[in-house]
This record gives sequence, structure tokens and C-alpha cells, in this order.
Amino acid sequence: MELEEMQTRLEKELPAKRFHHTVAVSQTAVELARLYGVDEKKAAIAGMLHDSGRQIPKKDFIAKAAELGIPLDEVEKAQPILIHAKLGVYYAEHEFGVTDPDILSSIRYHTTGAAHMSPLAMVIYLADLIEPHRDFEGVDTLRQQVRQGLEYGMLKAYIHTMAYLMEQGQLIHPDCLAGYNELIMAQEANQQ
Ligand SMILES: [Fe+2]
Ligand SMILES: [Fe+2]
Repeated sequence: MELEEMQTRLEKELPAKRFHHTVAVSQTAVELARLYGVDEKKAAIAGMLHDSGRQIPKKDFIAKAAELGIPLDEVEKAQPILIHAKLGVYYAEHEFGVTDPDILSSIRYHTTGAAHMSPLAMVIYLADLIEPHRDFEGVDTLRQQVRQGLEYGMLKAYIHTMAYLMEQGQLIHPDCLAGYNELIMAQEANQQ
């Protein structure tokens, strides 16, 4: 399926605000892809489909995952909003005909991050956080940091996200911590 067709379909399936976010993530992903030498077409598609899991209401995420045979971990069961990433992989594959494993894994890890992410997956994770509609405290600093280096931007994004989640008394997904630990270890190895 072509990008325009995906966009037309998502406009019908997603709530308006989510759809505008989706288009902005796709555009921001293309900008970051250009900056970091990542395939721009894949970035546009992965950005467009990253929240396709949100075409059903949050209250139905657990039941839908069960229906599709998608296994959930303890943190996802306790924080069901995270499940839209796994549902998004399913929709990307089965409704939008995506077969590219890098695009699918970018959708899979866009909420939590993870260790061993591809440059495309990092681009999508960061585009989701810094697209122009985002207005949380510190977003402008993060926008600058993301343009100073892909892994540097990821590290700053993890720090920002985990600090926020801890302040709110929310769970931190192990994949997020694994992504953070990987980057800190790489940083330490570089300093030795
Ligand atoms: Fe999302
Ligand atoms: Fe998103």
C-alpha cells in the first residue's frame, strides 16, 4: 500500500487529534531520517503507522491482544496503553501490508524504546516525542538534543521519560531501562 493510501485510511480510522499527530510524526521522521542517513520512505511509512494500534479504544486493548494471540508482559497488563505498539505491528502487517521487519520493529518499540534498536527505530521513537504538536515541559531542549546525535537524543529521551514516569509513580517498562543501560554502557566504553 502506498503512503497516501495509508494516510487516507488512517484519517477514517483514528480520532482527529491522533491522526494529526500521526501525520506530524511521519513528517518529523522523514526530517530525522534525512539528517541521519536513514531510508526516508521507510521512515515516512513507519511514522504513519506507528499509532495504528490506537484505532480501537484503550479499554479494548487487552481483549484484542488476547483475541489475536499476542502475549503481554506484566507491565503491559498493568499499563495497557503500552499495548497499542504490539497491536500496531499487527495492523501494519495485516491491514496495511507491511512486511519490512525494520518498519515493524520500529512500530513495536516506539513507546518503550529497547536495547539494540535500529537507526530507523530510533528515528520513529524520537519523532513521536518531538513532533511539532508536542508541548510538554522540556520538549524544546529535547528537540535540540535530538539533532545533536541519534544515540545522544535517545539517551536524553530515556532520561526525560523515566524521570517523568517516576515522578508520576508510574511503571517503567524493562525495554526502556534496557535501552538506557545499553547507551550508558556504550558511553562508558567510549570513555575508557
Ligand atoms: Fe504510540
Ligand atoms: Fe504516537
